[in-house]
Amino acid sequence: MNNRNKIILKGQLKVPGDKSISHRALIFSTFVKGTNKIWNLSPAHDVNSTINCLQALGLEIQMLPGNIKGLSTTYHSVLSNGIESIRQPSTLLFAGNSGTTMRLLSGLVAGLPFTFNFDGDASLRKRPMARVLDPLKAMGAIVEYKNQKNHAPFSMVGSSLKGSSFELPVASAQIQTALLLAGLQANGETTVELPATVRDHTQRLFKYLNIPFKVQIKMQEEKNFEKIVVTKLTKSIEPFEINVPADISSAAFFMVAASCLKNSEIELLDVGMNPGRILIVEALKKMGANISIEKNREESGEPIANVRVRGNSLLQGISINGSEIASGIDELPILALAGAFSKGQFSVRDAEELRVKESDRISAIVQNLKLIGADVEEVKDGFDIQGKTSLAGGCIWKSYGDHRLAMTGLIANLLCDQPVQIDDLDCVSISYPNFVRDLEYLRQ
Ligand code: S3P
Repeated sequence: MNNRNKIILKGQLKVPGDKSISHRALIFSTFVKGTNKIWNLSPAHDVNSTINCLQALGLEIQMLPGNIKGLSTTYHSVLSNGIESIRQPSTLLFAGNSGTTMRLLSGLVAGLPFTFNFDGDASLRKRPMARVLDPLKAMGAIVEYKNQKNHAPFSMVGSSLKGSSFELPVASAQIQTALLLAGLQANGETTVELPATVRDHTQRLFKYLNIPFKVQIKMQEEKNFEKIVVTKLTKSIEPFEINVPADISSAAFFMVAASCLKNSEIELLDVGMNPGRILIVEALKKMGANISIEKNREESGEPIANVRVRGNSLLQGISINGSEIASGIDELPILALAGAFSKGQFSVRDAEELRVKESDRISAIVQNLKLIGADVEEVKDGFDIQGKTSLAGGCIWKSYGDHRLAMTGLIANLLCDQPVQIDDLDCVSISYPNFVRDLEYLRQ
């Protein structure tokens, strides 16, 4: 009997707060004069990088004891004196491993008349930055790359920005958000259009915080494209309180594990169900997983639900491509593992963006799936997997310093016949410091 029949996941779990929303709630606090309260902020090291940078910009951020719905917990208090109070930081803006920190903060400071020095760790230094810095330069910011064009480290000298129109070639919520943050400080209108629908946390937060913006719909080849339009913010926004939903990208690992482990039944609580993030649920359902979405409701402007997953163990391969990719960009490594344990073929195409994430995730997932015994072939923009009902494992899984790869390896360890060891687990903290503890908690 292989592991998939022996191991069971059972119980209820609320995974930590959403990383994307946490970055935004912290960064948008800059536009407030006063103190904001953020409940359930993500404990991810990436979010800590944003906190450190904002502290370098003069915000006062601290974790305090609090009480929500009768339960003792903590919240983050974020004190800001408004965007106009930001001065030249005395230190580097070090974004660690976090692309979101570096890209969103470049948009935030592009309109401020100081010099900001940005850098990140070795992985972040490899990631493309011109996709956000070129449009910011077009709005008036001055950027100087220190070592290599398109890459951190770089300095940015902010200036008086002019509103501009952008039709971005990449469906990236990070770039869109960075340009909208700059647009809120620019003269005239700034318009940002993307080639596909992405997570819309920024627009939802704009609405929740009463930041004015417009949505224009463009019809082309029977598809709707959204343009987001902002103008200069003329006054500070009111102090706010926000409760961050549980992170669907973290919940995704448990969804796949429970789907593949027969007799499992888990309930993931208060999961963010942003329409630009739910490929993981839609794809698993299409594959035949037994998933139900319960108690749909709204929290701080975001849709949330409880997600119940029951083990099925015989999933069916599917194809994922085109505009679907953007709504599961962070979940493709763990979905690929589900694909390796399915009947038939599991294919991913149009996912070249995966090559410029925390690692080259196409190559990394293909290499690791081969190590556990899967039949997988790499192509330029994705991969094809011939699913199997059992996989040997008994190998060392390489995380390439990429948190999502390391967590996928820990789930592979549950599903394979022989133990799978992960070469580096430290990187898990980039998004989910207590992942191993929570996985153990659900494991029977
Ligand atoms: C994010 C957007 C995505 C995602 C990243 C977080 C965000 O990046 O991969 O983990 O918070 O906006 P892209 O927008 O570059 O695809």
